[in-house]
Amino acid sequence: MELKNIRESITYKTRVTVLSGAGISAPSGVPTFRGGADSLWENMRPEELATPQAFSADPEKVWRWYDWRRGLLEPCKPNAAHYALVELENIAGNVTIITQNVDGLHQLAGSTNLMEFHGSIWVTRCLKCNEEKINRTVPLPIIPECECGGMLRPGVVWFGEGINPGIMQASIEASSNCDLFLVIGTSGLVHPAAGMAHIAKDSGATVVEFNLEPGGVSSHTDLFVTGSADLTVPQLISE
Ligand code: OAD
Repeated sequence: MELKNIRESITYKTRVTVLSGAGISAPSGVPTFRGGADSLWENMRPEELATPQAFSADPEKVWRWYDWRRGLLEPCKPNAAHYALVELENIAGNVTIITQNVDGLHQLAGSTNLMEFHGSIWVTRCLKCNEEKINRTVPLPIIPECECGGMLRPGVVWFGEGINPGIMQASIEASSNCDLFLVIGTSGLVHPAAGMAHIAKDSGATVVEFNLEPGGVSSHTDLFVTGSADLTVPQLISE
């Protein structure tokens, strides 16, 4: 099977579900989490900062890290891979994107049916009144406060925290009920997100992966497309 066969098989009846990861945003200049020194901050690994324990021990340090990342992301624009998925909505019957990315680039490109599995770096949540708000201020006052006086936290999912139950349920449904499942730019190592590719495969979908190199879910794919996502994903919609 080749990408050409996949492209030719897509019709207005095809239900497509996408699982995207940091690699789809790498061509936009967003650092990935694994396999690169550029994701490190003050020599700390994301796993040491993206946890509820790290935040309760030192909220100022964790907020400084998020503020640094928000500053890196602010000028980043969607790339050809993000736009190809928007274009796919005009060709396929249904396109659902499950993204592990917190960068907001799928929305910025214009994708409509999107689940932010790990939340958004552009959302804050109040620890006192629980209100979630979009916040694009860069840099932020550290530590940012809610209007109610409570301390804000980033609206992302940390290691050891559960996925929003509604998003989890909708992601499982979108993965079990699709004809084509695209895995784009993820190492496939972080669960439960990576498990969506297994659910899709077990439910009979054709699974196509786009990455620079094989990863955790590659043994479950029908086709592996090697290369940078901004060059390979657009080939889904035209030669
Ligand atoms: P990773 O950093 O683990 O993996 C990035 C993947 O993108 C790797 O498989 C790379 O080979 C691939 N890649 C890099 N550049 C690429 C390009 N130009 N084109 C295509 N692929 C490319 O990122 P994720 O899999 O997204 O979770 O990480 C999953 C989760 O782990 C993240 O959502 C985050 C992180 O810790 C939380 O914060 C909860």
